[in-house]
Amino acid sequence: MKKYLVIGNPVEHSLSPKLHNYWIKENKIDAVYNKKQLNEIDIQKIISEVKNGEIDGINVTVPFKKTVIPFLNELTSVAKKTKSVNTIYKKMDKVIGDNTDVGGFESALQNINYNVKGKIAFILGAGGVAPSIILALKKMGASKIILSNRTKQKAEDLKKIYPELDLVNWGDVPEFDIIINATSLGLKENDTIKLDYSVIGPNKFFYDVIYNPSKTKFLLKGKELGNQIENGKTMFAYQAQLAFKIWHNIEPKIDEKVLKLLEND
Ligand code: ATR
Repeated sequence: MKKYLVIGNPVEHSLSPKLHNYWIKENKIDAVYNKKQLNEIDIQKIISEVKNGEIDGINVTVPFKKTVIPFLNELTSVAKKTKSVNTIYKKMDKVIGDNTDVGGFESALQNINYNVKGKIAFILGAGGVAPSIILALKKMGASKIILSNRTKQKAEDLKKIYPELDLVNWGDVPEFDIIINATSLGLKENDTIKLDYSVIGPNKFFYDVIYNPSKTKFLLKGKELGNQIENGKTMFAYQAQLAFKIWHNIEPKIDEKVLKLLEND
């Protein structure tokens, strides 16, 4: 039986096992997908288990998407560019790090026919998922990418990788067409993002990487102002679909039933 798992800290709430095990069963694959909470010190060992064949694949979630890199033999070009790895596998005796968050975000927008080409994008946050969102927006032809983060240094570090980024102070609201919440603000019920919504107005697109809760305050406010909104559920499903394809060479279905699986229990 093949073995897969998601590593992170915390990892308790990850829906990856539920989704992957559903697809594993549906496609009659002899495999199991678990979750494992780790500390940084455990990473080298778990990656060596991919090398020796005890584990067949790993998904990586916060806060280890960057931490795993030194222990891998090779990175795909997307993982290299974003310095972020969410999918690990073995190929010809080498442990490879890939990034399916970029493709996941692209597919999520394509799925709802949102065309980024020529649009101004405004990203909130400079954490683990931000470099993947930036690369996806670049690939889709955004005319400008603006980023804001509470800790300015982290935004400046991202600008070293993506010099074309425009940085604005936390709390400032520039002109934009699409705004993306890539912070962890909204996961907790009382979280609010420091934003002057009064200058935003309607007919823009609010995207939240968070999907649980399905409508954060950020999305509710966006909707109230007359904007299109979307949560991160489809991005999550598509990044998982891409990882599944890498490991099993099968493209699993994303349908209503799958999206329902990802709703709050
Ligand atoms: P990490 O920072 O370890 O990469 P993450 O969950 O990927 O963790 O990212 C958290 C993001 O949410 C960061 O952009 C963080 O901003 P800081 O870099 O200033 O920490 C942002 N964030 C979390 N709590 C926040 C808060 N109370 N106000 C503003 N931004 C917050």
